[in-house]
Amino acid sequence: MSRPRVHPHRIGLALLAILTILSLRSILSWAQEPTQEELELGARLYAENCAVCHGPDGKGRVGVTLAKDWPSIRPGLRVREAIENGIPGSPMPAWSQKKGGPLTDEEIDALVRYILSWETGGIPPLAPTPTFTPRPPITPIPEVAGDPNRGAILYAENCAVCHGPSGEGRVGATLARAWPSIRPDLRVKTVIEEGVPGSPMPAWSRENGGPLTEQDIDDIVAFILSWQPLTPSEAPAAPTLAIGPGQHIEVIAILIASILIIAGGVMWYSRR
Ligand code: HEC
Ligand code: HEC
Repeated sequence: MSRPRVHPHRIGLALLAILTILSLRSILSWAQEPTQEELELGARLYAENCAVCHGPDGKGRVGVTLAKDWPSIRPGLRVREAIENGIPGSPMPAWSQKKGGPLTDEEIDALVRYILSWETGGIPPLAPTPTFTPRPPITPIPEVAGDPNRGAILYAENCAVCHGPSGEGRVGATLARAWPSIRPDLRVKTVIEEGVPGSPMPAWSRENGGPLTEQDIDDIVAFILSWQPLTPSEAPAAPTLAIGPGQHIEVIAILIASILIIAGGVMWYSRR
């Protein structure tokens, strides 16, 4: 052969070097400090969805303490895993859209960064403000005992986190629907009083260890039944295809592996 040519090994090495640099950059970008906007998004999502169980400052209520040092090499992965998939057999629901929850990958990223920011002080927690939109007064349904207007406030404080502000359903079932039953009020009331054992739906009545009085529950029942028949609920947001931080490494590993196989094939082939 007269013409000097680049040895295939060199091409392979160059490819490897480029890939290493690319993957390091992508790992470093996740290790970077979160932006202020990201932390604020996390704080807002936390106040709306998590404070009810984990406390406004992450110090724990029904849920465990989250404001702590996470003894793990990649704490983000552990926190993310718990949020995405929930903790089966506990009241901790799965929040990711691929597990039927309400949150996008991007929103979960923001939550993970916000929670981990507590390790180093972080930004101060927002007060949990139940998303209670003022609405026109609701006319009580004749045969239902409670006051739906008071029920609306109690609902926003206790139930919207799982059932959605308009009963459209999130981790909890859809409540804005028809209740085919002769006494729908009794049926709904019993579920609220007793909860659904083995599901995240807690028992709410004082007799069952919950925080609500019988009057509270009657008011909430009146509010829930005011949604009959089905009110049009917003369509759920389309799931995003963004790659979350937990998946970066996997994607990079697959990329590197496939390039290595191709490079190996080229080298082996050109040796002959
Ligand atoms: C209905 C109550 C409830 C809600 C709402 C809730 N959690 Fe939890 N969460 C729990 C409980 C209970 C546990 C502990 C489960 C266990 O380990 O038995 C937990 C565990 C966790 C863990 C794992 C803690 C660890 O030490 O590994 C994380 C992280 C977490 N929750 C984050 C969140 C985030 C973020 C939200 C809001 C998007 C949220 N949780 C909403 C009840 C809740
Ligand atoms: C931590 C999440 C969570 C919270 C908070 C919560 N629920 Fe639920 N709820 C659920 C889940 C999950 C189900 C579905 C249980 C099942 O059947 O598996 C449910 C079921 C129900 C049902 C029965 C629905 C049906 O189709 O039979 C009613 C009624 C209900 N919830 C009312 C309430 C009310 C009222 C509140 C507030 C006082 C509340 N829930 C708070 C999670 C929750």
